[in-house]
Amino acid sequence: MRTQRRPKVTVVGAGFVGSTLAHWIVTRGCADVSLIDVQSDLAKGKALDLLQATAVGRFDVSVQGGNDYALCEGSDVVVVTAGLPRKPGMSRDDLLRKNAGIVSEVAQEVKTRAPDAVVIVVSNPLDAMCHVFLDKSGFPKERVLGMAGILDTARYKTFIAEATGTSIQDIQALVLGGHGDTMVPLSRFTTIGGVPLSQFLNEDIIHAIEQRTRDGGAEIVGLLKTGSAYYAPSICVYEMVESIIFDQRRVLPVSVLCNGEYGVDNLFVGLPIELGKEGLRRIIELDLTDDEKEKLNVSKEAVSQLVGALRSMKLIA
Ligand code: LAC
Repeated sequence: MRTQRRPKVTVVGAGFVGSTLAHWIVTRGCADVSLIDVQSDLAKGKALDLLQATAVGRFDVSVQGGNDYALCEGSDVVVVTAGLPRKPGMSRDDLLRKNAGIVSEVAQEVKTRAPDAVVIVVSNPLDAMCHVFLDKSGFPKERVLGMAGILDTARYKTFIAEATGTSIQDIQALVLGGHGDTMVPLSRFTTIGGVPLSQFLNEDIIHAIEQRTRDGGAEIVGLLKTGSAYYAPSICVYEMVESIIFDQRRVLPVSVLCNGEYGVDNLFVGLPIELGKEGLRRIIELDLTDDEKEKLNVSKEAVSQLVGALRSMKLIA
């Protein structure tokens, strides 16, 4: 009999991002998975399908699904993907009101059912939804984290690899700020095998890549026509899950609540952090140039406006 239990991860929302995340977790055999969705049969069906895949893939994990939040009891990590996805022409911010209601309900359930979990918010508009979860759950800020920076950085790396023809494995990059049109790719902190990006690409090309990165989510929405990206977003969440359950202390860009860091107060913004089993271990402060600071400021203002809108709609305190 097993004496040490496997880690448990609950994924709320069995849409494309949620179910693909469950798939990444199961295929790596690193945690038991619960999939929760308001559409009970959807979560049940996907969980059963994944469970049957374990028989052939030989993944020794359990997978459950349904609409009952009792399924999330005992979770080490809860990932919130519930919410409406963007449609073509719709900005992440259009989703604000609708998804705030959904995330707020999820937060109240998680608060009572999995009070010790580290929570990763994925629903959009990302940074604003982190505020909703924090407000409605009363969780400490160390355990409410938003996944966006890893995805934005993944897109940035992809376009750099394409433009330079180098291996994506050797690209180290960093995109900070809110998950929106004002995100801040930092070319100064981007290297290929330790060599500064500026030795590979000229400024114009780097700027074009940065713009494509900012538009990265919309580019996929435009191609898919219905729904938004899910393969890359879900593996980015997986990277965070792994760092938490194995206490890897990875240094990753994550949306976190600032209390004065980078001159930001009481606002979720994407910053480099150290991520371990208790969630946020520390925010890593970089010495930014005036231009980088200004860009981060613009990004912060965009998040601040959304949070202001949430407050004026009385969706958060
Ligand atoms: C994206 C959505 C998930 O960036 O925000 O693809």
